Amino acid sequence: MAESMNEDNAEPPREAKLVTAIVIGAGNRGQTYSGYALEFPDKLKIVGVADKRKFVRTHMQKIFDIPSENVFEDWSDLLEQNKFANAAIIATPDRHHLEPALACAAKGYHILLEKPMAVTEEDCRKIVKTCKENKVMLAVCHVLRHFPPTKKIKELIVSGVIGDVVNIQHLEPVGFYHYAHSYVRGNWHKESESTFSLLAKCCHDMDLIHWWMGPNRCQCVSSFGSLQHFRRENKPEGAGSRCVDCDIEQQCAYSAKKLYLGNVLRGNVGWPVSIITDVPTPDSVREALETGPYGKCVYEGENDVCDNQVVNMLFDGGRTATLTMVAFTEKICERQVRIFGTKGEITYSGGTSIHVYDFLTRLTKEIYPWSITPVRTRLTGHGCADFLLIQNFVEAIANDDPSLITTGPEDTLESHLLTFAAERARRQNRVVTIEPPMEW
Ligand SMILES: NC(=O)c1ccc[n+]([C@@H]2O[C@H](COP(=O)([O-])OP(=O)(O)OC[C@H]3O[C@@H](n4cnc5c(N)ncnc54)[C@H](O)[C@@H]3O)[C@@H](O)[C@H]2O)c1
Repeated sequence: MAESMNEDNAEPPREAKLVTAIVIGAGNRGQTYSGYALEFPDKLKIVGVADKRKFVRTHMQKIFDIPSENVFEDWSDLLEQNKFANAAIIATPDRHHLEPALACAAKGYHILLEKPMAVTEEDCRKIVKTCKENKVMLAVCHVLRHFPPTKKIKELIVSGVIGDVVNIQHLEPVGFYHYAHSYVRGNWHKESESTFSLLAKCCHDMDLIHWWMGPNRCQCVSSFGSLQHFRRENKPEGAGSRCVDCDIEQQCAYSAKKLYLGNVLRGNVGWPVSIITDVPTPDSVREALETGPYGKCVYEGENDVCDNQVVNMLFDGGRTATLTMVAFTEKICERQVRIFGTKGEITYSGGTSIHVYDFLTRLTKEIYPWSITPVRTRLTGHGCADFLLIQNFVEAIANDDPSLITTGPEDTLESHLLTFAAERARRQNRVVTIEPPMEW
């Protein structure tokens, strides 16, 4: 029998449902997720944008053919309008998530919210509560839950192939020049302007550990860490304030000339060069290095977030986990993990395969998780997880089914709260007990 349509609510048939979205903060991440609408125009349409930067607004308006009346400089102006889309993609800087998220929820927009949800526990709870009260869907951009290897690891754990998980060792190698770019010179260099580095960089990793260990909950946590290296007292003798006029720049691994000018001269205009200037050319990059934050010596001492931190966690039943975040690595964010179970061990060291060792047979199986993403997409960030995340969000809305969302409110809030607890433990130099699940 043909599906009948409710005339009052004239919903099109399920497969034809096009999700419309506004973008609040159309920088690096906002544009990444919006890219899905270019690849799948029958699934997602970007119909409005708010961004402080004119260059960005104009670009978005052009590529998505957004009517001028739906283009705004500030999110608050956009949200003064009546609701005109199903969803909002919120990708403003860390300290500007709370207000637009609350306002979007109040207007009835389903929300895709960049991580961290907010920079305080209280604000994270507020966002979840407001979304629930207004019955809007909330997905938080924990992209790594969609990363094929981490997803496969969860499946392997659930399958019981390594028995009961006893211990997880997880490493986030930030990368020496990535750290210098983002956490010494860039947007996340100062806690008062963004947030502490465990939340900014490792809320993903805390979320993964929380997810892999689930349904066991973390009971208590301790943590140590500091800003070890990028400090004024470590500035080499003879170093200048800016790399463009530094006598010893050639001996410095963190030289901005090497990182940005070197790249643009070789024709590499993607990240990180694309972050420091709107239209990367050798001249615009040189100017950015002469005048902007990305040309400063990494030892100027304007940054204050940890460059190394460890977190120790005790889970239900005596299970344990450790996370190490460190700036000084060759690999850039290629997470590595070892998971020790009562029947075997899972090892993932980045790259294409996961190893599973079986204690009974004493054999190692190599597993290739990438076959779970046969899609062709230009959204290849985080090993195509950027694509899988926005696809997941759009499908949940198209099907009006919040249960499809992989990174929904309750779970995400729990792993954020765990991250705040770990940071509290580091600052207060004590073991912090995690309170039982919170009220929503
Ligand atoms: N999920 C991930 O893996 C991941 C990776 C990187 C960044 N992030 C997070 O995504 C968010 C955005 O990061 P980004 O790298 O895209 O930053 P970005 O600076 O490239 O983009 C932020 C945009 O927000 C705009 N903006 C600022 N205030 C605004 C306002 N009041 N109204 C409208 N627009 C405003 C800015 O003009 C800018 O274009 C941050 O919270 C960041 O921590 C997440």
